[in-house]
Amino acid sequence: MKGLLLVGGHGTRLRPLTYTGNKHMLPIANKPMLLYGLEHLVKEIGIILGPVREGVVELLGNGSRFGVAVTYIDQPEPKGLAHAVQVSERFLGTEPFVMYLGDNLLRQGVKEFVETFNEKKLDCLVAVCPVKDPTRFGIAELGKEGEILKLVEKPKEPKSNLALIGVYIFGPSIFEAVKKIKPSGRGELEITDAIQMLVNDGKRVDVEKVNGWWKDTGKPEDLLEANQLVLSDLKESMQGEMDQEAEATGQLSLGKGSRVLGRVRMRGPIIVGNNTVIGPNSYIGPYTSIGNNCTLKNIEIENSIVMDGSRIEGGSSNKRIVDSLIGSNCTILDSDSTVPRGYKLIIGERSYAQI
Ligand code: TTP
Repeated sequence: MKGLLLVGGHGTRLRPLTYTGNKHMLPIANKPMLLYGLEHLVKEIGIILGPVREGVVELLGNGSRFGVAVTYIDQPEPKGLAHAVQVSERFLGTEPFVMYLGDNLLRQGVKEFVETFNEKKLDCLVAVCPVKDPTRFGIAELGKEGEILKLVEKPKEPKSNLALIGVYIFGPSIFEAVKKIKPSGRGELEITDAIQMLVNDGKRVDVEKVNGWWKDTGKPEDLLEANQLVLSDLKESMQGEMDQEAEATGQLSLGKGSRVLGRVRMRGPIIVGNNTVIGPNSYIGPYTSIGNNCTLKNIEIENSIVMDGSRIEGGSSNKRIVDSLIGSNCTILDSDSTVPRGYKLIIGERSYAQI
């Protein structure tokens, strides 16, 4: 079955990180987010590229590095998920396909959904998951037999808590449906409207609940939560070097050429990329991902993501950084040793700091 991986959109909720790069290139446990989706799909994959595309083509190329064949499909304006289906019709042809939103992390993959779709000879299968805040999602209202009655995009007064998670399987009838629908109030061609049209036309549409965890990574706190979920399954790997003075508990993955120097306490799960130097006098706490070529010194940090090439150096008072997202090539230095003392910040538009 062909796959359609969506990595378009503006990613406004993750600005400023998405001003300079594609949201789906942001790392979760040191791996670009979009690779989690790509790994669930097979052989032939269409990649929807939107207005912010930096890094995607460089990473994926023609797909051969990842054992798949990649075709890029342009969607210069994010006009909606149904629009992404429309622009992919030529690539997808008449066979069923899996559509996967690239900002979703799904532990179980898509195999079981494909099996259900085939076994039940469906026209559309929608993966769903109960959520706490249904007003943020497309929601499926089901009848007594579990059949879909209605799909509503971000309902103000939700009648169900079953969210459409961002994984769909469609047969070719979806192309007619996406041509018939009109843009919604927010100006997008909504996939929920197209699926509703399939339901109304008597097509075989079904939902299946996800097993295991699922996370969509629209907001900064979602990225940290996704990082926690992935790091919970981290495998121990020690390719770098640790001084005898340093101590580590819990799962730790230390990449090639990375060094932990002097008195450093590490409480996993923690992943560290290649050629990164940590220490001395530092504490790295659980659920922290540190990229390649970083330097961390005299600092305490936990439940955070530090991207490639960043430098964090504390002073004598060992400050603690928590629940933070630090983009690539950032510098964070201590201000205690400068006179007059004070926070010195060079912070771009839409940045967030709590000092
Ligand atoms: P959204 O989360 O709706 O949009 P976004 O990623 O641009 O983020 P924000 O709301 O913060 O601006 O998109 C869900 C997924 O679908 C995401 O992976 C991007 C992708 N997408 C497209 O590829 N094309 C589109 O037209 C839209 C609307 C989304």
